[in-house]
Amino acid sequence: MSQQIDANGQLRHFLTTEGLPPDLLNRLLDTADSFTGVIDKSVKKVPLLRGRTVVNLFFEPSTRTRTTFELAAKRLSADVLNVDMGTTSVKGESLADMLHNLEAMQADLFVVRHADSGAANYIADRVDDSVAILNAGDGRHAHPTQAMLDALTIRRHKGRFEPLTVAIVGDILHSRVARSQIHALNGLATGEVRVIAPRTLLPEDIESLGVKVYYDPDEGLKDADVVIMLRLQRERMQGALLPSEGEYFKRYGLTRERLARAHPEAIVMHPGPINRGVEIESSVADGRQSVILEQVTNGIAIRMAVMSTVLGAYHDAGREAE
Ligand code: CP
Repeated sequence: MSQQIDANGQLRHFLTTEGLPPDLLNRLLDTADSFTGVIDKSVKKVPLLRGRTVVNLFFEPSTRTRTTFELAAKRLSADVLNVDMGTTSVKGESLADMLHNLEAMQADLFVVRHADSGAANYIADRVDDSVAILNAGDGRHAHPTQAMLDALTIRRHKGRFEPLTVAIVGDILHSRVARSQIHALNGLATGEVRVIAPRTLLPEDIESLGVKVYYDPDEGLKDADVVIMLRLQRERMQGALLPSEGEYFKRYGLTRERLARAHPEAIVMHPGPINRGVEIESSVADGRQSVILEQVTNGIAIRMAVMSTVLGAYHDAGREAE
């Protein structure tokens, strides 16, 4: 059994989309869909996590992930603590000691973002059995709830994964989002997953993840049903991997002309933050085919689904929502 699935096949933590069984991936999407009724109501709350405590532990900046985790926990009626690691004094305390103090406050769930790959697994190995860990992005390793909200967005627009061609474009090398998307999309039996990037922004072993590699965006975008753009992750780059941002935009940026290579009904996605004029033209980011802001909204439902599943609270959210 993986670290995140217990002996009964239940999701105990949510650390990665790698190796998750298709039925579990589909169940999370179905659960998220059932929460849409809650999000669309005037009183946007269900009591599934009443009396439970969710702690947001963000060691790295975040806008979308932190706020949608907080909203999702509040929609489920949990108590939420936001521990901003940028302002919390650790005073020489080890990470393990700090976590044990938070456990002592009877926290049920830690949402963890960290700049180091493997940080969420490290914490999951050290917390008490009563605490669940959700990975909100660790280094270049994984961002599983982002991948699941992306899958939810794709399913809502396209219905099924099997006939689809999904193209992921940009800085694949440094992207935890791309890795998690590839694992989730392959687990959901997506027809073809392509990655499109300069050689310097692709990991050597990327084909082993079950993707087709393209260096030329005009070829790679041809007939794609879903186009996912990624930003250049300068904070994780060492050395000069690119000539300039202007040159990158000319060669890989998503313009209207380039998007015309994809299927006419292709959707355009981006996990954010978007860098206009670097990886995507404004007219495309704000255009008819863009679903970028829908991704953010779907993040609330997915995070509600993951939190209620790991805390064993989800039975019939549809009935709760009535
Ligand atoms: N997509 C994403 O993880 O965005 P934030 O860094 O704002 O959370």
